[in-house]
Amino acid sequence: MLDLIIRNAKLTQKSELVDIAIKNGKFRSIKPNVDLESKKTIDARGHLVIPPFIESHVHLDSALTAGNPHFNKSGTLLEGIDIWSEYKEAATREDIKQSARKTIHWLIANGVLKIRTHTDTTIDSLITIEAMVELREEFKDEVDIQIVAFPQDGIFAYPGMDELLVEAIKMGADVIGGMPQAEFTREDGIRSIEYIFDLAEKYGKLIDIHTDETGDEHSRFLEVIAKHTLERNMSGRVTASHTTAMHNYNNDYVAKLIGLIKRAGIHIVTNPFSNTLLQNRLDGYPRKRGHTRIDELLKQNINVSVGNDNIMDPFNPLGKGSLLQALHLLVHTAHLNGEEEIDELLDLITYNGAKTLHIQDDYGIEENKQADCLILNATSVKDAIRLTSECLYVIRKGNIISETTPPHHKLFIQDDEKTIDFN
Ligand code: FE2
Repeated sequence: MLDLIIRNAKLTQKSELVDIAIKNGKFRSIKPNVDLESKKTIDARGHLVIPPFIESHVHLDSALTAGNPHFNKSGTLLEGIDIWSEYKEAATREDIKQSARKTIHWLIANGVLKIRTHTDTTIDSLITIEAMVELREEFKDEVDIQIVAFPQDGIFAYPGMDELLVEAIKMGADVIGGMPQAEFTREDGIRSIEYIFDLAEKYGKLIDIHTDETGDEHSRFLEVIAKHTLERNMSGRVTASHTTAMHNYNNDYVAKLIGLIKRAGIHIVTNPFSNTLLQNRLDGYPRKRGHTRIDELLKQNINVSVGNDNIMDPFNPLGKGSLLQALHLLVHTAHLNGEEEIDELLDLITYNGAKTLHIQDDYGIEENKQADCLILNATSVKDAIRLTSECLYVIRKGNIISETTPPHHKLFIQDDEKTIDFN
C-alpha cells in the first residue's frame, strides 16, 4: 500500500501525464496509470508537478523587520545598512527567531523547501548565527537550511571579523560568505577573498560571496574568486552572489570574465528584487538596470540561480517570499521573454538552485529520491511564471505540509455571472 499517489501529473520533461507513487517518504514509481492502492490520492488534473523551489539567497535574520526601528526614507542601500545596524543593536535572539520563523512559513507556503540564508556576523555575540542554527534544527523535518556566515561590513574593515568567522563556523555555519567591495581598499578585498578560501579549505565548507554588489565598474573581485576557485580545485563549491557591477563593465572585459567563470565552474546568484531596487541609484538618467548579465551567462551554460534576498526589511519594504514573483520580475528587467528562454527559466529557481547549494545529486522527481514536490496552479512553465502561480500542494517526504485554495474570481456583467481563472 502506497502512502500517497499524485495522479495526472504534468512533468516539465514529459508530454504525457503520469502518476507519481510515494512510499516511506520516497518516490517509488513515476509512470502513466500506476495500478497500486494508496492511503491518499491527489488528482493533479494536468497541473505541473515540479521539485521544490530553492531559495538560493535570502537574509532570514533581517526579513520582516521593515519599519523597525523605522522605514527606509531614501530607499538606498546605505540607509538600509544604517537602519539594519540600529535594529541589530537592540534585537534579541528571540526577536530574530520570531521574524525568521514567520518568513520560513511564508517560504514553505510558496513552495520553498531548501533555503540558503546569509546571516550577519557583525554582531559580536553571534546571536544571529545562534538563532539560525536553532531554526535549522526546529524546521529539519520541513525545510533544509544552509547557513552562510556573512561578514556584512567586510572582514578586515571590521575589527575582529576574522575570528568571528571562525567562531561562526564552529557554531555550525555551512557556508563562508564575504563582502570584498566593503573593504577599505582593493588590496584588502583581495586579501579577504584569500582568507575566505583558506577557511573553506581548512573546514571543508562551501563559499558564497556577495560579489561586486555595486554599480562601480572598477569593482572586479569576481576574477579573483575565479582564480582561487581554479587554483584550489573548488569548482562547483563556490558561488558569487549579485555580480551587479558586471552590468557596467566594458564588453571586452566581460568576454574574458565569462570565460573565466565558466572555466572555474562558479555559480552566479542574481536577486531581481534588491538588485533592481538598490543598484545604479546614482545614475540619474539614463538609468541602467542594476543586475548582472543573465542572458550572456546562460548562453555560456554558466549556472545561474535566483534569490529573494530581502523580504520586507530595511532594503526592500515589499516581498512575500515568492520566487516565481522574483522570476516574473527578472523576465521583464533582463529581456528574457524569448519563446524558448521563458521555458528554461523555471530551472533558475529549481535545478540551478540545487547546483548552487551543492545538493543536486539528491534533488528532483526521480524514483528512490526523497519525495519532495510541488503541485502548481498552472499547466505550463510560462503560465506558472505569468500567473506567479500558487502552490496548490507542497509535499515533503511524502507528507502534505502546505495546501492553498486558489482565489475564485466572479464577474457580474452584461446581466450574466461569469467565473474566470486567467487561463
Ligand atoms: Fe544579500
